[in-house]
Amino acid sequence: MAEGEVSEGCRLPVLRRNQDNEDEWLNKRLDEWVTHDRLDLKRVQDSQDSSDGAPSAPRMTGSLVSDRSHDDIVTRMKNIECIELGRHRLKPWYFSPYPQELTGLPVLYLCEFCLKYGHSLRCLQRHLTKCDLRHPPGNEIYRKGTISFFEIDGRKNKSYSQNLCLLAKCFLDHKTLYYDTDPFLFYVMTEYDCKGFHIVGYFSKEKESTEDYNVACILTLPPYQRRGYGKLLIEFSYELSKVEGKTGTPEKPLSDLGLLSYRSYWSQTILEILMGLKAEAGERPQITINEISEITSIKKEDVISTLQYLNLINYYKGQYILTLSEDIVEGHERAMLKRLLRIDAKCLHFTPKDWSKRGKW
Ligand code: ACO
Ligand code: ZN
Repeated sequence: MAEGEVSEGCRLPVLRRNQDNEDEWLNKRLDEWVTHDRLDLKRVQDSQDSSDGAPSAPRMTGSLVSDRSHDDIVTRMKNIECIELGRHRLKPWYFSPYPQELTGLPVLYLCEFCLKYGHSLRCLQRHLTKCDLRHPPGNEIYRKGTISFFEIDGRKNKSYSQNLCLLAKCFLDHKTLYYDTDPFLFYVMTEYDCKGFHIVGYFSKEKESTEDYNVACILTLPPYQRRGYGKLLIEFSYELSKVEGKTGTPEKPLSDLGLLSYRSYWSQTILEILMGLKAEAGERPQITINEISEITSIKKEDVISTLQYLNLINYYKGQYILTLSEDIVEGHERAMLKRLLRIDAKCLHFTPKDWSKRGKW
């Protein structure tokens, strides 16, 4: 190679295909194997020097690496080209541990109802003649219009839960995949049409969480993203916490998209409460952080971080006051007009179980 010396662990810029996605370059979603002509060999940095924060290229490895790090490279790289799921074709973002013999295929075929995978269209067609599921297994605990939620016990419906985790891992980078689904419940959101209840997204939840987590992993399948379903899933997770009489928080770390969605949900939910407060006898309306947390089931720490993020807290004459500027109020009202998908608590039929009393789930 001409120009700089390319060695194991070095960094160099790579020409992107999507020049319009400026905000995405820090994310591993863009990881891919690149051809030589897309490498900028004039700007090779050795592995010690990362001063300009340039995105790193996938390692070119030759025979330089040990078996262990080779495993890392293989497991880090996206291994499925395309997944057919009902009428959708999904392009995975990240690695998912599907059986290795299925990873070289141009398309992996999934039954959209039981999520079983097969290596060919014929294989799927054969499966469909036998599979009579038209909705996720488990109990339908919510229905309004065409939106339903099914509650699935990771112990009772192990195969479905594992298949769901495999599919979800394609779009979740920073989460460990649990092979043991027993300690989890899965809440799958579907959209109904004459062919059945089609999966849109889901979240998982530990049956018992010592850290007040009310969501472990959350996902909207890519064809449905950016249409408000993520916040609908989040809203649903807090409705469950309200029924349980608990406050909850999502498991950390959040992904970049997870943080954006939660921030947006928390901001809107808290602003809705603050703007609904009525002044009494000429006094300023009052509310405590604890009250906001109790009403919304949003954990106290998240209420505080949201108020700080929105920059609402001021210290005035010895006490904390919240100031809602006109900009904030107008922005919020505009955003709420666009938020059409909402959970209707009246349509939720859910009785929480006390898992601690059940011995081993
Ligand atoms: N770029 C910029 N903003 C975005 C993007 C994006 N690609 N995607 C969502 N947002 C913003 C939206 O603008 C919206 O904010 P707004 O209403 O204030 O405008 C907010 O995030 C939520 O948008 P929704 O349409 O409700 O969310 P969506 O259906 O796209 O789902 C989710 C969000 C679940 C995070 C989705 O992006 C996803 O599945 N990502 C992959 C998996 C993942 O990262 N999950 C979270 C991991 S953290 C955890 O599991 C606890
Ligand atoms: Zn099936």
